[in-house]
Amino acid sequence: MTPAASSPPPRRIVVLGTGGTIAGRATQSSDNIGYKAGEVGVAQLLESAGTPQGGHGEMVLEQVAQVDSKDMGFALWQQLAQRCAHWLAQADVAGVVITHGTDTVEESAFFLQTVLAPGKPVVLTCAMRPSTALVPDGPQNLVDAMAVARTPGARGVMVVCAGKIHSPHDVQKVHSYLVDPFSSEPAGLLGVVEEGAVRRFRDWPAPASEPHPQTLLERVLSTPPAAWPRVELLSSYAGANGQMVQALMAQGVRGIVVAGTGNGTVHAELHEALIQAVAAGVAVQRSTRCLFGQVLATAADTLTDSQGLSPLKARIHLMLALLTQTP
Ligand code: SIN
Repeated sequence: MTPAASSPPPRRIVVLGTGGTIAGRATQSSDNIGYKAGEVGVAQLLESAGTPQGGHGEMVLEQVAQVDSKDMGFALWQQLAQRCAHWLAQADVAGVVITHGTDTVEESAFFLQTVLAPGKPVVLTCAMRPSTALVPDGPQNLVDAMAVARTPGARGVMVVCAGKIHSPHDVQKVHSYLVDPFSSEPAGLLGVVEEGAVRRFRDWPAPASEPHPQTLLERVLSTPPAAWPRVELLSSYAGANGQMVQALMAQGVRGIVVAGTGNGTVHAELHEALIQAVAAGVAVQRSTRCLFGQVLATAADTLTDSQGLSPLKARIHLMLALLTQTP
């Protein structure tokens, strides 16, 4: 009897370009800040990284956008979720790499992990120096991201920068200039990439359980971005009051995340307005404006907390929760 032919392992890597400093261009190589983000095409980025199309295994390239990621928005997130879902469903695709700006990469990574919870790797990578810099960091980051995407058994959405692999839950941009601008403290890195090999410290990002990602993905793909629930971010600080909350309620806001002081505490005047917002049907959550640590619930709490999510990620989580509840 002839043994059943085993199917070859998936091998194509899909690279989706969205812009960012990794694709930035300056007029002088000495200029690390006066560049325009989102200028260089994804094919050229791969060529600069020494992995032109056809080399190092088969690649599929798509230029999804060319933006400075400060301008990231729901329409592009919807498009990214659709392109990732499409390619991840192809049996011969091993993983997806996304080139992205550093400024909002933690938000895009968290959004994609929540919506897709992929069983294959989706690796976002970026750079702090434009492609025209004397020493651009993008090419190595791209090579490292490709290595993670090709790693057997890898799964989930990750951010790869400066040789480090960050989880979408923990990664935060904490420096405005250094070429290693991200932190995953206190949870720590998922791993590192060394000479093309992944050394892992923690498990890959877990598939999300609630709501079922497929339902959430369908909702994300079928709802026009302009109709996604409006969730805004406020902060508590000396002299804060409730006027911003009232203005947002007048505009029909569906949710508010407040970056509170310390353990998610909120100025009394702002707190009072938020309590009124809850009574009026607005979903309100407290996170902390502290870079590290999370809000710990107490018996005296009158506003729910963000379950350990940073303000930026709590906002996305709440927006997606409200999206699934929208009739
Ligand atoms: C951006 O986020 O698109 C610009 C800044 C960067 O990539 O570092």
